[in-house]
Amino acid sequence: MTLSVMMEPREAMAALTAPEGRRDPYAYYDAIRAHGNLVRIKPGLMAAVGHAECSRILREPRLLVQDAKSHDRLYPDWRSHSSLRGFTDSVLYTNPPDHSRMRRLMSGAFTPRRVAALEPAIVQMTDRLLDRVAELGGDGSPVDFMAEFAYRLPVAVIGEMLGVADDDQIWFRAAVEDVTVALEGISRVSRLDAADRAMDELAAYFGRLVDERRRHPADDLISALVEAHDAAGDRFTRDELVGNLVLLLAAGFDTTTHLLGHGLHLAFEHPGFAARLRTEPGFATGYVEETLRIAAPVHATSRFAETDVDVLGTTVPAGTKVLVLLAAGNRDPDRFPEPHRFDPDRPDIQPLSFGAGAHFCLGAPLARVEAQIALPRLLRRFPHIATVGSATYRDRLVVPGHDQLPVSLG
Ligand code: HEM
Repeated sequence: MTLSVMMEPREAMAALTAPEGRRDPYAYYDAIRAHGNLVRIKPGLMAAVGHAECSRILREPRLLVQDAKSHDRLYPDWRSHSSLRGFTDSVLYTNPPDHSRMRRLMSGAFTPRRVAALEPAIVQMTDRLLDRVAELGGDGSPVDFMAEFAYRLPVAVIGEMLGVADDDQIWFRAAVEDVTVALEGISRVSRLDAADRAMDELAAYFGRLVDERRRHPADDLISALVEAHDAAGDRFTRDELVGNLVLLLAAGFDTTTHLLGHGLHLAFEHPGFAARLRTEPGFATGYVEETLRIAAPVHATSRFAETDVDVLGTTVPAGTKVLVLLAAGNRDPDRFPEPHRFDPDRPDIQPLSFGAGAHFCLGAPLARVEAQIALPRLLRRFPHIATVGSATYRDRLVVPGHDQLPVSLG
């Protein structure tokens, strides 16, 4: 969709938070871009839509994530919400020195070696799930790709890494669906009842698991993090440990699920590329990068300026929150010629989809590997797979995507 009338940034931003804008935000991102790559929306609020500006902001140490201190200033009541408290104890919502301390402890668990070691298990999990899809759809019945595959693979992978039981992976979906509303922006505090309940449930679950692993360590991520906590007492508080485990679960599959959904949807729209995914070794790498670019699973994040900060010639005044619209930066025409065209052969894609700088996604190598393994195997296994009926979409601003994507196996 293109908007024929010039819109003020404030109007475009209001439209983005309405259901239609959430469903198809790209025209509104372009409407903001018509005013510049980093623009003022209203006093105290700016939005970045340029690739260079988003990247610069995320790498600027003086632009901070909203942490407990800034929540205290802006939303005095935030501590009454366990969902906000839980995530605020995690790496995502802390600044140095707490962020650097926790990040160091967690990144040890996401080394390229650990991810590479998981690859054979990811292949096995993919094939097991494809067997199940074949059973469900073998008689011509439609199968919901999101529920039966796109959700199950990432949760099985993060479940395996964390060391949670297979039986628990099913209830995680509803709990994570509810708890991630708290990551959609603190201004939606009125909608947090279900998020709070889900956080209480997940925190109690991981709390029990932490106690169990302390008694009986295993070769999994929870045991490694418990050890990091216990090694020097003050390295991870218990709340931080639990907050980060809930974050890993939520960030670990809510996003990757939608990468898989977007990847398959794009394959349906571009049968030529789907054919190359089936046959051309190595094509999946560029395909997944371009999927991440054109259909960013995470559309936005934000940063806060405590002092005036210059970003590529534009001042972000002290006291301003900057929305970093990653999905818009991924379609910046100054960085990507014909930005709205899906082209896995583009050179040097480098999407902003995993962020940049100190908070760069810890799970990026894992998410990439999952999609690079799963999409070609799925398309090879079901050469006549096609979309049937109507897909439905989540009504989300930050992590939109398919709710249901019914397919026939042909
Ligand atoms: C396609 C899948 C994924 C996408 C698009 C994605 C996106 C992102 C983005 C944009 C950020 C940075 C947020 C910011 O700077 O404010 C982030 C951070 C993070 N992601 Fe991911 N993510 C994905 C998968 C994963 C997976 C699989 C895991 C873990 C298993 C994970 C764990 C994390 C963690 C722990 C952080 C916080 C890092 C920090 O604050 O230092 N993510 N992710």
